[in-house]
Amino acid sequence: MFLLLNPTSFLSLLITIITLISSTASQPTYTYHFCSDPQNSTENTNYDSNLSALLSSLSSKASLNSFYQDSSNGIYSLYLCRGDVSNNTCQTCINNATKEIQRQCASNGTAIIWYDECMLRYSIKNFLGVSQTSPRLLMSNTQNTTSPDEKNIDALALIYPLIVEIPYTKMMYGTDNKSASHDGSPNTYALVQCSRDINSSNCRSCLEDLNEAANRCCKSKIGWRILAPSCSLRYEEYEFYQPPSTPVPVPSAPGPEPVPGESNTKTWFIKISERWSIHLP
Ligand SMILES: *[C@@H]1O[C@H](CO)[C@@H](O)[C@H](O)[C@H]1NC(C)=O
Ligand SMILES: *[C@@H]1O[C@H](CO)[C@@H](O)[C@H](O)[C@H]1NC(C)=O
Ligand SMILES: *[C@@H]1O[C@H](CO)[C@@H](O)[C@H](O)[C@H]1NC(C)=O
Ligand SMILES: *[C@@H]1O[C@H](CO)[C@@H](O)[C@H](O)[C@H]1NC(C)=O
Ligand SMILES: *[C@@H]1O[C@H](CO)[C@@H](O)[C@H](O)[C@H]1NC(C)=O
Ligand SMILES: *[C@@H]1O[C@H](CO)[C@@H](O)[C@H](O)[C@H]1NC(C)=O
Ligand SMILES: *[C@@H]1O[C@H](CO)[C@@H](O)[C@H](O)[C@H]1NC(C)=O
Ligand SMILES: *[C@@H]1O[C@H](CO)[C@@H](O)[C@H](O)[C@H]1NC(C)=O
Repeated sequence: MFLLLNPTSFLSLLITIITLISSTASQPTYTYHFCSDPQNSTENTNYDSNLSALLSSLSSKASLNSFYQDSSNGIYSLYLCRGDVSNNTCQTCINNATKEIQRQCASNGTAIIWYDECMLRYSIKNFLGVSQTSPRLLMSNTQNTTSPDEKNIDALALIYPLIVEIPYTKMMYGTDNKSASHDGSPNTYALVQCSRDINSSNCRSCLEDLNEAANRCCKSKIGWRILAPSCSLRYEEYEFYQPPSTPVPVPSAPGPEPVPGESNTKTWFIKISERWSIHLP
């Protein structure tokens, strides 16, 4: 088929493909945000400028650290990248998050924003080291499993060992998967992660809370995720993370600027085709 193209159109096809790949790889996928605690700037004249300085300092950390916390200037903050994302993706995600959170929660004392690849939060109240399971965001696939009225044994079998083991690891992040078997059970993939400001026992109880919530809301569904400030849990019948020990491809040269429309279309296409429904607390 390529033989039918002249070298110039082949080259432009190649560039288009590379552009598509690099833009979908590096563009973070926004999920949701919550703002709370109205902040009266007249009482705290420096709040806006302190916050914006803090956020740009967080953004500058993200190329080297997948987690960072800060408590300067009377504002407590942290960000966390998903355990499998590259430094480059982490940086891109946090950079976008610091801008979006300012746009969405301009004059609020507390805010949190989630992406597929990272999360960022800040507050005038000290939350560092405190396990928080709300506000929480619950997203589930609208499609039912083959036996929606029974416990989802496939999900439980995959997630429970992770909840028991992962809190005691350094990164507090882990994934597992199981291949489809002849009895008709599907491929399954699960991911758990805690924010590394909390300790192992808090991490474990945070994950147990979310797992209970998942059993209440989502046992009939083929895929779901629950995102809380201190931990998160996700289960799907397709691979949605980078498998461990697979080297993350590093682009040799910066690719062309991503074309905004294309990556947005891709994002929406994924969301619509999976038919997500979102439940808020
Ligand atoms: C965010 O702050 C604004 C301005 O202070 C306030 O009007 C709004 O109610 C706050 N939002 C929430 C959810 O607290
Ligand atoms: C902020 O607080 C000051 C002093 O307490 C008050 O005069 C002002 O009306 C408040 N502004 C808002 C937007 O609430
Ligand atoms: C990526 O980040 C890790 C820490 O999360 C650091 O050890 C490593 O040096 C970074 N890699 C590059 C290429 O900067
Ligand atoms: C902003 O930072 C200054 C010091 O740089 C501090 O005095 C002030 O209290 C901070 N403002 C708030 C709202 O925390
Ligand atoms: C953040 O990324 C989204 C696409 O995911 C983009 O539409 C938006 O303009 C970006 N925001 C900023 C402030 O860069
Ligand atoms: C974990 O932190 C909590 C406070 O959030 C504390 O009560 C608990 O003792 C800590 N557990 C361990 C094992 O350090
Ligand atoms: C999914 O299963 C639940 C529980 O049996 C049932 O109430 C619901 O109608 C089903 N939804 C779909 C889309 O099949
Ligand atoms: C699935 O699990 C196997 C064995 O634990 C592992 O080798 C493989 O990398 C995993 N695949 C993914 C996508 O996590």
